[in-house]
Amino acid sequence: MYVCVCMAVTEEQIHEAARRGARTLNDLRRDLGVASECGSCATVARHCLKDAQEMRQKAAKAKRPTA
Ligand code: FES
Repeated sequence: MYVCVCMAVTEEQIHEAARRGARTLNDLRRDLGVASECGSCATVARHCLKDAQEMRQKAAKAKRPTA
């Protein structure tokens, strides 16, 4: 699904950016151009980035050995 139509950035690209270390909308803007034109994607892009970060945190917790 496209998140940023102006720059043709997909949800998967945002998840990949999060895996590479993107933490903020400014990071997405720098790395992918998200919200650098009309800006209407900013809110959805933030949600998408937050989802990606939460998924990474859950995956990291699942990998931790139990005591
Ligand atoms: S939709 Fe992302 S800058 Fe326009």
